[in-house]
Amino acid sequence: MIRINENYLKLQASYLFSDIAKRVNRFQQAHPDRQIIKLGIGDVTRALPPACIAAFHRAVDEMADDTTFRGYGPEQGYPFLREKISRYDYQARGADISADEIFISDGAKCDTGNIQEIFAGAARVAIPDPVYPVYLDTNVMAGRTGSYKQGRYEGIVYLEGSRQNGFIPELPDQPVDLIYLCYPNNPTGATITKTQLKTWVDYAREHQALILYDAAYEAFIRDESLPKTIYEVDGAREVAIEFRSFSKTAGFTGTRCAFTVVPDTCRAFSADGQSVPVHSFWHRRHTTKFNGVSYPVQRAVEAVYSDEGRRQIQQLQHGYLENAALIRKEMTALGYDCIGGENSPYIWVDGRTDSWQFFDMLLEKAGVVCTPGAGFGRCGEGYIRISAFNSFENVKMAMKRITAALSSK
Ligand code: MLT
Repeated sequence: MIRINENYLKLQASYLFSDIAKRVNRFQQAHPDRQIIKLGIGDVTRALPPACIAAFHRAVDEMADDTTFRGYGPEQGYPFLREKISRYDYQARGADISADEIFISDGAKCDTGNIQEIFAGAARVAIPDPVYPVYLDTNVMAGRTGSYKQGRYEGIVYLEGSRQNGFIPELPDQPVDLIYLCYPNNPTGATITKTQLKTWVDYAREHQALILYDAAYEAFIRDESLPKTIYEVDGAREVAIEFRSFSKTAGFTGTRCAFTVVPDTCRAFSADGQSVPVHSFWHRRHTTKFNGVSYPVQRAVEAVYSDEGRRQIQQLQHGYLENAALIRKEMTALGYDCIGGENSPYIWVDGRTDSWQFFDMLLEKAGVVCTPGAGFGRCGEGYIRISAFNSFENVKMAMKRITAALSSK
């Protein structure tokens, strides 16, 4: 008798964003004439930058000719892309990361979900609340938790975020081995200073722990004093893995490309206490289970680092940040306390009521989709997340409708 992985039985019925999509589809079927504006899942709406499209076309043409055709590429990504990333995203900021410490992949969601596989099943895991659900669910699947009770999995050390701590949690008050952090934060849009980040790096060094740092939204940082990578912090190379994505940075949500940085000095420990290089474990896992991102996609991403590509992605990001500023301004004017939206495409709004009720009300009265904060954890209850990923016209229309709906409440 084939037995199922019982850990899956502990999971909540469906993934947050699938759940929301189902509710929205039901609503749309019941009200086919209503025009819904989606500010829920952070999915980009604007076309890929022209520099990327031109490079994409050139690479597709190469695949059409036997003399330039490419079969399997290196699993970790082509050197032409890894070198650009190391130079422009790291060395230009004084962060000592080399091309061979970068692993190109098809998404930060996959990488943040898969990385836990290389660590011990008994690793004690610290996860923020509220949080991007992938970190939590993948640890549940791997059996690092007990059952789900009152909005929490047994065995996880929750790092609580609140208005009081600005959604930068306190250091854990019990021993932990793996720590997930994400800044600019999904879902709250909160940002972390270099000094605050250093306290986490120092903690990890002191306690032989490891930080899994999700920097998928770094491109939206406009405040130059904020760290864009954890490797700007001294000592991080030994204790941190960083995840980045071209999804939001350059519009690749549908095209798929991301990368993970595992410095060759990053260490974990064997059962007998010997230090082992995490890089070689991730390399082993990546080359065994992944065959690389397609050549044309990597060429398209490489174009992000050209002069025109960089100008074009800045325009894209600027457009989404204008949306974020508008959402934040209007929600604040309506009397709602907001976090994020300044160095982040997400605005975290204190709705002062049940998150799902607020979600339903915005959908029914305004035809606008947001994400209920409770979907990101118990500390998200009472909040909603509004995403700035849409056209300016749609965001303006959404805010007009939300203003009308909330004024008549
Ligand atoms: C989100 O809305 O939180 C993100 O789009 C999810 C993701 O990037 O996977």
